[in-house]
Amino acid sequence: MEIIITDNYAEMSKVSAQIISHEIQKRHDLVLGLATGDTPVGTYKELVKIHQKEGLDFSKVKSFNLDEYVGLAPLHKNSYNYFMWENLFKHININPENVYIPQGNTDDPEEFCLWYEEQIKKAGGINLQVLGIGGDGHIAFNEPGSSFASRTRVKALVKQTIDDNARFFDNVEDVPRFAITMGVGTILEARKILLIASGEKKAEVCAQFIEGPVTSQITATALQLHNYATVILDKGAASKLTRTEYYNWVRDNKQLIQKQVGR
Ligand code: F6R
Repeated sequence: MEIIITDNYAEMSKVSAQIISHEIQKRHDLVLGLATGDTPVGTYKELVKIHQKEGLDFSKVKSFNLDEYVGLAPLHKNSYNYFMWENLFKHININPENVYIPQGNTDDPEEFCLWYEEQIKKAGGINLQVLGIGGDGHIAFNEPGSSFASRTRVKALVKQTIDDNARFFDNVEDVPRFAITMGVGTILEARKILLIASGEKKAEVCAQFIEGPVTSQITATALQLHNYATVILDKGAASKLTRTEYYNWVRDNKQLIQKQVGR
């Protein structure tokens, strides 16, 4: 894992947007996995800026979102579909036919999940997967105990996630109890992974998933098994890491390292 520590949320957002933009420039038909939540809002704002100022072209990009609440229609204001259109898609030139988001109000979730996996496969797999991390260490909605082999499926949310996400709803009873989510196995198949995290409230879980043992109790630790995962943290989220000096040395000597490993 490559660990990049930034001064603040704004810088975390800029650096992550630059990485995504660089991948799109290298490959116009990039298959991009996307996350929702508070953390990527700044990254999406930066991507919109790059699109508007530098003409970053999304017309051939395909996107697959990680998850969606079961029971919410795509136009519901708390749906992840709504979030994605408000925060990113309506501001860029992505082709709506290339946008894939799990359908929360599908009649047949099981069939839908199989179809979703099939679409990822048909697209040639995900080139770059953007992730956030939950307070309980989840990636997508893979709550503690999710198998590292899990695929897209319906998952029951744990109380901590329901409480954490209540801030987006009028009251906690309105937070759906289930979500359709890509599995840890689905995520691990992405060729590159970019996880972003911000704020001291994520510091403990970030230290655990970066420097602790691999365990399905913290599904983000699965990234330790991936051969191309980058983690961008702001100072708050990085405040409980113990090997900061090393991570910063690597960041500051990237050109030297690129020469050695060609990455
Ligand atoms: C959302 C998702 C979740 C969030 C995580 C962090 O699509 O997959 O795993 O990334 O819950 O959410 P925030 O960024 O709101 O702290």
